[in-house]
Amino acid sequence: MTTATTSGVVPESDVELFSPAALMDPYPHYAELRGLGPAVYLTRYDLYGVFRYEHVRPALIDWERFSSADGVAMNPRTNELMAGSILGMDPPRHKAVRKAFDEALRPKYVRKVTDDLERLAGELVEDLVRRGEFDGVRDFARKLPVAIVLDLIGFPRDDQREQILDWALGAFNFMGPAGDFQASSLPDVQELMQYLTTKATPAKLLPGSFGQIVWAAVERGEITEQEALMTMSAYACAGVDTTIAGISSTLWLLARNPDQWAAVRQNPAAIPGAFLEGLRVEAPVQSFARVTTCDVALDDVTIPAGSRVVLSYGSANRDEHRYPDPDRFRVNRNPSDTVAFGFGVHNCPGRALATMEAHALFGALAERVTRIEPAGEPTRSPNSITRGLDTLPVRVS
Ligand code: HEM
Repeated sequence: MTTATTSGVVPESDVELFSPAALMDPYPHYAELRGLGPAVYLTRYDLYGVFRYEHVRPALIDWERFSSADGVAMNPRTNELMAGSILGMDPPRHKAVRKAFDEALRPKYVRKVTDDLERLAGELVEDLVRRGEFDGVRDFARKLPVAIVLDLIGFPRDDQREQILDWALGAFNFMGPAGDFQASSLPDVQELMQYLTTKATPAKLLPGSFGQIVWAAVERGEITEQEALMTMSAYACAGVDTTIAGISSTLWLLARNPDQWAAVRQNPAAIPGAFLEGLRVEAPVQSFARVTTCDVALDDVTIPAGSRVVLSYGSANRDEHRYPDPDRFRVNRNPSDTVAFGFGVHNCPGRALATMEAHALFGALAERVTRIEPAGEPTRSPNSITRGLDTLPVRVS
């Protein structure tokens, strides 16, 4: 049931946008919600939502009116647990904590791993070409983030490493609107926190890693211990699964659109644009929330002060008013203005690293593979925040 806009009143929708079924294919719902108005009140969740590109992007810059300080999750319990996370801060505090991230993830620092990334990507793809058929998530998209990014972050090389990926997905799900589906992820959150406080302690982190940079900032008195712990949690959550989702979704889109793979092979300079287009079509982070600090007018409707508002990157990226024929994957579209990495003060500090990983992998494929095709149906699990595949059978030649 929906109610159309009448003079200043935000239209309402009772769509169950965060039900497992809707999360498996949210795009028809996004299209309907975009059509309703600049903002929509989601009655099932007591949340407002902004779904149009023209309003999502400006809201991401406007931290004074769309604040992150009360957390970016969609339920109060998670926001309390995440207190001290960089995601849940506004300037000026955000600036101080963000310095530690920017220092670690600066392109000149990250570029030090370019050779490793390219060598590993080349070896990996040669092996996959020999095999012919493989799983695009486990055998392709996961390899570089697990081999290189977990090292960069500094997590000890123990047998719990790969579990971080599952805990992180659970932690994202725990950020969704309160309910059974969201609450079912609590054990993942607990295990991740247990790991961070007992196994990934400052003394056990790998030398020279991002983690050590973060804890050095505690010693200099720039950030608190709680902020450092939440920073490590942000690295664990944001740093690996998002990249895996982006790379595997792009591979899936290329496998289903052979003409687009042919275009990439003809012109490898199109690889950066192809990855951006993959992130536009299948945004790995679908949405985060903000809280309005005053009444906010968006065109003809007003979101009341103190409202929790979902900003939908996933919907903005498929907005037909911004991207003609938005559901089509076109490698030459080059959507440099996509909000897949966010925008404004919280824009993703890991963008250069994720992009380098993707370029290394798709570059290695373009050199060696003429055809990529689906070898079965991919599978996915619903998640309140992220969108990615669990398995992706593909064949290459
Ligand atoms: C394709 C891969 C990635 C995607 C799509 C992605 C997406 C995003 C988005 C949408 C935000 C904005 C959050 C907001 O608006 O509140 C964000 C922030 C963040 N990302 Fe990424 N990310 C990716 C890779 C990475 C990597 C590789 C790292 C670190 C190694 C990372 C670390 C972070 C952190 C720490 C933040 C919080 C920044 C802040 O609040 O100031 N991300 N990311």
